[in-house]
Amino acid sequence: MESDIAQAARIVAESRHLVAFTGAGISAESGIPTYRGAGGMWSKYDPARFASIDAFLEDPSYYWSFFKEERYPVLKAARPNPGHEALARLERSGRLRSVITQNIDGLQQMAGSKNVIELHGNTRTIACLKCGRTYSMDEIHAQLASRAIPECRGCDGLLKTTVVMFGENLPAAALREAFEQAAACDVMLCVGSSLVVHPAAAVPGAALDGGARLIIVNQDPTPLDHRAVVALKGKAGDILPRLAA
Ligand code: OAD
Repeated sequence: MESDIAQAARIVAESRHLVAFTGAGISAESGIPTYRGAGGMWSKYDPARFASIDAFLEDPSYYWSFFKEERYPVLKAARPNPGHEALARLERSGRLRSVITQNIDGLQQMAGSKNVIELHGNTRTIACLKCGRTYSMDEIHAQLASRAIPECRGCDGLLKTTVVMFGENLPAAALREAFEQAAACDVMLCVGSSLVVHPAAAVPGAALDGGARLIIVNQDPTPLDHRAVVALKGKAGDILPRLAA
């Protein structure tokens, strides 16, 4: 393991165009549960009910009670951990060009990263599906103290977080930028993702197809481990600071 970390650190140091691709695992040490596996969100909540656009449009109250009771308190309390901070340091030092993230928690930006491509939207912004008026997470949480479904102040439209739900398209500009970065990079650092949710999971494959070398940092095996130059098993908060040193 030690020599694998040294090899990965050398590849990072020698890269010309380094890009990171992150998933829920990088935020696990900040107290935000991942989606899959034991203790993951989808073992407790059925994604077909709590994270699908059809179910949301049919009855938004399930989502908003999940937001109020489960998501808001966890996201509000979470702070960046040494993994996020290591990626922010790599960007500040000029080595890391961008972080492509599937995460909706905003922790990478809170750690100081400027070039963050959010493939799955975020929970910071809640928008009216009819008039487009936007609200902060705090404003909406305050509304949920007295009502099951928050209301738009400007019209009678339905409010929704900008988090991409199953059945919705990913934001086109973010997806395009992610594939541009994948094609341009010579090293992609994949951190804390099961790499099974498409189309996001196709981004590391596109980097490989463009000739980039892949470094994977993840607790569990991923379907791309066999194509990575190094696949490091462990916690992002332990490993990333050593890669960025
Ligand atoms: P997953 O929950 O699928 O995978 C998280 C991965 O992180 C797992 O493979 C864990 O082994 C690993 N992991 C856990 N803790 C870790 C740690 N401390 N350090 C390193 N690795 C760790 O999460 P994602 O791949 O991000 O989509 O899931 C992709 C998408 O599926 C999410 O963006 C979400 C979900 O449905 C939407 O909400 C649209």
